[in-house]
Amino acid sequence: MSILITNIGELVTNAPAAGAFAATGGAALVIEGSQVAWTGPASQPPAADELIDADGRAVLPGFVDSHAHLVFAGERGAEFAARMAGLPYSSGGIRSTVAATRSATDAELRTNLQRLAAEMLAQGITTFECKSGYGLTVADEARSVALAAEVTPEVTYLGAHVVPPEFEADPAGYVDLVCGQMLTACAPHARWVDVFCERGAFGADEARAVLAAGESAGLLPRLHANQLGPGPGVQVAVEVGAASADHCTYLADADVEALASSQTVATLLPGVEFSTRQPYPDARRLLDAGATVAIATDCNPGSCFTSSMPFCIALAVRDMRMSTQEAVWAATAGGARALRRPDVGHLGIGAQADLIMLSAPSHAYLAYRPGVPQIAAVWRAGQRVVTGR
Ligand code: NIG
Ligand code: FE
Repeated sequence: MSILITNIGELVTNAPAAGAFAATGGAALVIEGSQVAWTGPASQPPAADELIDADGRAVLPGFVDSHAHLVFAGERGAEFAARMAGLPYSSGGIRSTVAATRSATDAELRTNLQRLAAEMLAQGITTFECKSGYGLTVADEARSVALAAEVTPEVTYLGAHVVPPEFEADPAGYVDLVCGQMLTACAPHARWVDVFCERGAFGADEARAVLAAGESAGLLPRLHANQLGPGPGVQVAVEVGAASADHCTYLADADVEALASSQTVATLLPGVEFSTRQPYPDARRLLDAGATVAIATDCNPGSCFTSSMPFCIALAVRDMRMSTQEAVWAATAGGARALRRPDVGHLGIGAQADLIMLSAPSHAYLAYRPGVPQIAAVWRAGQRVVTGR
């Protein structure tokens, strides 16, 4: 089965060889099965089984959200409201979600997870990563990664999110559990291992221990780094060859240099700064130094409860001074690099046919018309999964 989408006003391809935003006007694209089979001028399209007229609208790769925490119960709307009234964000709020998650049934967790995954898809996210980290017992982390694996292959074991209350007097004992029995229970369902490396959560040596244990169980490292203040997270991420260092809100010059001279992607989460009133990460400094930058939602009930990549793109453009092209690349190809997924985030020949049609003529509208729903249709692996406006 082949589908020809023609009369595309702007086709964003992000050809991987260029490593940067790439687009053409007056374009057409052919999907064959689950892959992109052809792209070229709309004036010379090959034959196909089905024809779709884009009517001058833009077509982009599906968004790749490389950082999300979707397995949880409860909500923290009152905490958000208190923060907007002046209270600071603190990682301590995670514990209230841990309590709610532990008391939830599998069915309740699954319903919430599926609702959020559907929200993401409707907003153009065709690949997303999903972390555990609100269970923090062997059984609750194991069911969290198992539930996550029902909705995405990009599952991250985050047993080292915070030290749970019952281990307050014995944080080393908790790290042993995370590196031992909990890891054994979670590794079969996960691809990644993550640590919240931050004052109030886990230090550099604890992060190294958890990442090393995860790697010996076959998991690949990624890290929450430098979110709430300066710290060793980025250096640890680069040292262990992590796919990504996430947040990067407080960076020293040495952190920027380390990221720029490594394969570790700097994943920026501007929805967090919006929702916690922290300063935004300095995206320009990272980009100008040559670091690879991704943008992700960090959708979670505490620091940022948005599932909207267009909203994060608008923030990156308006408040982090990324160009519209840089921001869209970061939300597609950048996210794919942060997940080491060469098959998504671009529309080169042979890529997975994950694509978005906007109700607008160019990618710039994602930031130009903030808050306006503009995802007209979504295809995932060649199947039209959102039909719309
Ligand atoms: O990425 N930083 C740690 N974890 C989440 C916040 C989780 C929460 O507040 O519930 C984050 O911001
Ligand atoms: Fe996070």
